[in-house]
Amino acid sequence: MDLQPDTPVRSGPLEAANLHVHAGSFPAIRGVQARFEAGSFSAVIGPNGAGKSTLLRALLGLNRPEAGEVRLFGRPLAHWSRPERSRALAYLAQSEELPGDTRVRDVVALGRGAGDWRFGLLPGRPWTAADEAAVDSALARTDTRRFEARRVSELSGGERQRVALARALAGEPRFLLLDEPTNHLDLAYALEVMRYLRCEVAGGLGVVAVLHDLNLASRADTLLLLHQGKVLAAGAPHEVLTPQNLLAAYGVRVRVVRDADRLLVIPED
Ligand SMILES: Nc1ncnc2c1ncn2[C@@H]1O[C@H](COP(=O)(O)OP(=O)(O)O)[C@@H](O)[C@H]1O
Ligand SMILES: [Mg+2]
Repeated sequence: MDLQPDTPVRSGPLEAANLHVHAGSFPAIRGVQARFEAGSFSAVIGPNGAGKSTLLRALLGLNRPEAGEVRLFGRPLAHWSRPERSRALAYLAQSEELPGDTRVRDVVALGRGAGDWRFGLLPGRPWTAADEAAVDSALARTDTRRFEARRVSELSGGERQRVALARALAGEPRFLLLDEPTNHLDLAYALEVMRYLRCEVAGGLGVVAVLHDLNLASRADTLLLLHQGKVLAAGAPHEVLTPQNLLAAYGVRVRVVRDADRLLVIPED
């Protein structure tokens, strides 16, 4: 699915520039500067209430900034039309409700933008062979094709999360933003989600995932640590996951140890 022909720039980062966003009347994001690259896995971390979900929604254009702006490919998000924006950016919300009585393939097909309730309809666009191919590809890349005829209600939690991922990927977004995608999954399924996301990143997708588990987050390319609506640290995992930063953000003393090419965060308490 191509962007509109009048779209001047087709690639580049997703950025927050001096972003201030309210959640209700609460100033949840207070002057955030951040840059997320295509082909990179970024994780947003921070304690409960730090503003992670609010930031993600602002990056998607789902809430309006009080000040500052979000830019996609160097162009203010506010200047993008809604269909353009929803093609470029996909969202996996925190507790994604998939319709239980719907077959997997039909759920994934919704990701083509022909009826996604969150972003509205793309009126009058007929279903094409390209749509069919994109659905096939998303099913194949998430290993959901073998149960494409089953109903969502017949799937395990891990399988459902893969279907939600397939639906998001079917729209061929440039950036995928996920809010705690591994939350209700056991370790094996959580690692599986990370593996699927890694493959997509290798193919050029920009992934921005809110992650609670710091040991999972340490597998990302870059981390953004939020605290009380501000960026406490940003950069490579070894730069962000330091005992000083984690004490400041979470109020917990930790040791950070390197194990082969991984970082492990171990609470001292
Ligand atoms: N609708 C709302 N009204 C008032 N405060 C809110 C609302 N939604 C969120 N908040 C507050 O905004 C802050 C950031 O929330 P959120 O972005 O959900 O944080 P996180 O995802 O990091 O846990 C929290 O302190 C939360 O209590
Ligand atoms: Mg949240």
